[in-house]
Amino acid sequence: LDAQEALEEEILALKAREDATILAHYYQDGTIQELADFTGDSLSLARAASRVSTGTIVFCGVHFMAETAKMLNPDKRVLLPDLLAGCSLADSCPADKLAAYQESLRASGVRFQTVTYINSSAAVKALSDWIVTSGNAVEIIRRVPPDHEILFVPDRHLGSYLEEVTGRDMILWDGSCMVHEVFSVRDLLRLKKKLPQGLVIAHPECPANIREHADFVGGTEAMLRFVRELGPEPRDVMVATEANMLWQLQQTHPHHRYHPVPGITCACNLCPHMARNTLAKVRDCLRDGQPEIAWNPLFEKAREVVERSLLR
Ligand code: 13P
Ligand code: SF4
Repeated sequence: LDAQEALEEEILALKAREDATILAHYYQDGTIQELADFTGDSLSLARAASRVSTGTIVFCGVHFMAETAKMLNPDKRVLLPDLLAGCSLADSCPADKLAAYQESLRASGVRFQTVTYINSSAAVKALSDWIVTSGNAVEIIRRVPPDHEILFVPDRHLGSYLEEVTGRDMILWDGSCMVHEVFSVRDLLRLKKKLPQGLVIAHPECPANIREHADFVGGTEAMLRFVRELGPEPRDVMVATEANMLWQLQQTHPHHRYHPVPGITCACNLCPHMARNTLAKVRDCLRDGQPEIAWNPLFEKAREVVERSLLR
């Protein structure tokens, strides 16, 4: 056995011993996705977390995802291989700032509902009317009564994309994803020139100057569906999202050729927060029973909003 195989065997044995399910986001390293019981986008992972039958969940993703899994499973142990796996989007909207802004809108007589991207803390979710993911945002926006304004937090790029798609103006919070914001338009145009028959798929967290060159805009699960529908003829697909997504595309639809859209300073764009999780840390958290997401009383209110938005 080489070192990686030995580590994988150790993880599988610990997983059985600890009665655990491993959930992994598509932005995790391929070695982690391969080992997981379930891989998915934010929406399908939240739904999967609500159906887990084991006593422990190992969440291979970032903090807000593990927090969401915990609020849906108060009695289960939820482990996150690295507690510092954060998210620039969640960080861009602190709960006290959001509460103050909501108060100022109310004071000016604005009738509004707060629609919050799942990439946010539990405290921010608790201040929200709706939670959306890239997978259900359009459907949720349609549920907001037309006589209410929409305060959309924290991703201004996803917000502006939703404005385009739904035709509804929104008040946009000024947050962004550090990974999706730095794709290089110049390199994308060069790549398109080299692959004139190629297709560009882009995540809606990308700014408009990238989205406007895309043949398809959608979250990670929607990207997989789009590629599935391309048919048997091999195609060149340029991918503007976190680069580990290419592993999942390659695994599930191997007959196409995938090209990462380069970032401004790198050939392929990886999320440093997602990258904090490693196979060794998955092993360690199963062995040691930590880091664990602790229950927080404000999860109660946040759970209500998450359940209403994502599970019904
Ligand atoms: P989705 O996989 O839900 O599209 O989310 C993308 C993302 O940035 C998660 O952090
Ligand atoms: Fe957050 Fe962006 Fe990383 Fe997703 S890719 S976890 S949105 S920083």
